Formats: sequence, C-alpha cells, structure tokens
Amino acid sequence: MSKTYKVAVIGGDGTGPEVVREAIKVLQVASRRHGFTLDLQDFDFGGARYLRTGEALPDSAADEMRQFNAILLGAIGHPDVKPGILEKGILLRLRFELDQYINLRPVKLFPGVETPIKNKGPAEIDYVVVRENTGDLYSGVGGVSLKGTPHEVAVQSAVYNRFQVDRCLKYAFECARKRGKKKTLALCGKTNVLTYLYDLWERAFHEMGAAEYPDIKREYYHVDATCMWMIKNPEWFDVIVTGNMFGDIITDLGAMTQGGMGIAAGGNINPAGVSMFEPIGGSAPKYTGKNVINPLAAICAAGMMLETLGEAKAAAAIEAAVADVTAHKLKSLGAGQMGFSTTEVGDLVAERV
Ligand code: IPM
Ligand code: MN
Repeated sequence: MSKTYKVAVIGGDGTGPEVVREAIKVLQVASRRHGFTLDLQDFDFGGARYLRTGEALPDSAADEMRQFNAILLGAIGHPDVKPGILEKGILLRLRFELDQYINLRPVKLFPGVETPIKNKGPAEIDYVVVRENTGDLYSGVGGVSLKGTPHEVAVQSAVYNRFQVDRCLKYAFECARKRGKKKTLALCGKTNVLTYLYDLWERAFHEMGAAEYPDIKREYYHVDATCMWMIKNPEWFDVIVTGNMFGDIITDLGAMTQGGMGIAAGGNINPAGVSMFEPIGGSAPKYTGKNVINPLAAICAAGMMLETLGEAKAAAAIEAAVADVTAHKLKSLGAGQMGFSTTEVGDLVAERV
C-alpha cells in the first residue's frame, strides 16, 4: 500500500489560490511518479471569509489542522481589511497554536535567475536561514497607555526564554550537519545593544555547539553586518540562525538576492507536529485573477513540504524541475514578465518532475 498524506490547503487571499493551484498540479505529478498519495482538503481562511463572518479563524482551526500531515498556504492579506488583523488572526495564530517554532527559509539562487548582486551566481548564493518563529517582538508582550494624547506610551517587548532558544539552536545545528556543505552555523544577533536578549542566544549557542556539535563551526554576526555580508559575500553563509524579528527582515533581503518573491519559499516547522509551507511573498492584490503571478515560490514550498514529510526524492525532483525551468524557459521571475502565464509555468514544472 502506498503512503497517503493528508494535506490541508489554505489558498487564502489575492493570488494565493492561483499559485497554490499550480503547486498542487506539481504535487499530483510528483505523487504519481514517486508512489504516494495526497489527500487534500481545502479551507477558506482568509480576508473574504473574515469580511463575510467577522471571524479571522474559527477557534477549532488549530485542532482541525492537527488532523493533517501538513498545511500548504497561499497568501494572507486583503486590501479591504486593516493591516494586522488577518496576519495576526490567521498566519501568526496558526504558527503559534501549532507551535511551528522554526521558520525555515532557503536563500538559493536558481540557474538562469538574475540576482541584483553583481558577479555572484548560484554557487555563491545558497544558504538557509533558520528563523525562530514563536518569540521575540512577536510574543505580544507590551501595551499602551495615554493613547491618543501627546504623552502616549507604547511598549512592545522582545521576549525569549532559554527553552525557545535551545530548541531553535538545536534545529539549526542539525540543519548545518544535514546539509553537510560548509558545516558552519552563523548566529545573527545584536549583542552590542540587545545585551540581555542576544547574550542569552550567544551563550546558549556556544554551550550547545561545544557540547553537542563539535563538528559544526560557529560564527557570530551582528544583524546589521549580516545584511552587509549577505550582499557583499553571500558565499560565506551556510546556515544562519536568528530570532524572529531579525529573521523576518533578513529573509526579505535574502529573497531579493535570489531573484525576488516569485521564488522565495519557506516552511513554518514543528518538527514533532504539523508544519505549514508558504511562498513568503504576499497576496499581490493587483495581480489577482490575471494569470500572471509567478507560482514558483509556492511550488518550491510544496517541495519543502514533501522533504519534511520524508519524500526526499520527490522533493529533489521538484527542485530539479524548477531549476530546469528557470535555466531554460523563463525570461524573468517577475509577475507578467516570465514569458509564460501562471498556469503555463505550473505545466512546465509539472512535465519535468
Ligand atoms: C512573513 C510575514 C509575516 C511575519 C507577517 C505577514 C505577519 O512578513 O511571513 O515574513 O512577519 O512573519
Ligand atoms: Mn516577512
């Protein structure tokens, strides 16, 4: 009997459903070729549902999601909904409630893709960022007083405990070992200013590294310097580990160096639970329904999902198919500039898997 994976599909807003459709097209081919079955179920979470019902996410959602092996997400964000409501109410809530404590974001330049960094190619731009995904400025600790007055005070705290830091570091060290490339883990922090927060990270980093990962080289960079070297010498990096906020910021920078949001994928991972995979770009309302958006990020996210489910061969086949399409077919990765429509790009990848 072949394995069956239950996958919850959240197309979401804007171009989300369009790119997810192409990812599923590719997944279906991969499942036939590699001998497994996908049992897909759609969920209508997103801006349209919120506008209709007044509820971003039903309280039962996380429990429902726990019945699945993985979640594939398109995009969350609607022009008629105030910023923050859907992001916090759907995306962050699922990440937190499902304890997806790792946000894994590969920064990989595919062949044929143009990078804004002069004289760098696929050999130089190939690393992963392990972003902690539950704490930091995202923990919701803070408050406001005297709101609306000239003396208004706003506080939002960056919060980490040792447990969160340790489990994230462990994942990152394992990741460096598994990649087996430069066997280097770089901690990205700000120990010169955030002397409580990143002091905790730095001590935990060296303690764990010395005790359990003597084969992995340890490096440290301040976050501002990390941004500098990601542009100047991206080949220095193998695995970068960092907190939630710095991780959010540096992975957008990384995405641009790999050709933009059209190809940047990520996984919200709970190594012992249900993980959620997504293109890291937004819902791109202005391109919605035009069949011009690039589906490769969603397709790469689907590949990461298969990797995490244990279908490494199928995942590698998807990555190779994407690489062939970027190298030999697409003119550019931008929406409307690919030389092909969204559905055609899905077909091109699917027929190569
Ligand atoms: C991301 C996004 C989210 C984040 C937003 C939409 C809440 O920017 O996935 O990087 O900050 O994590
Ligand atoms: Mn972001």
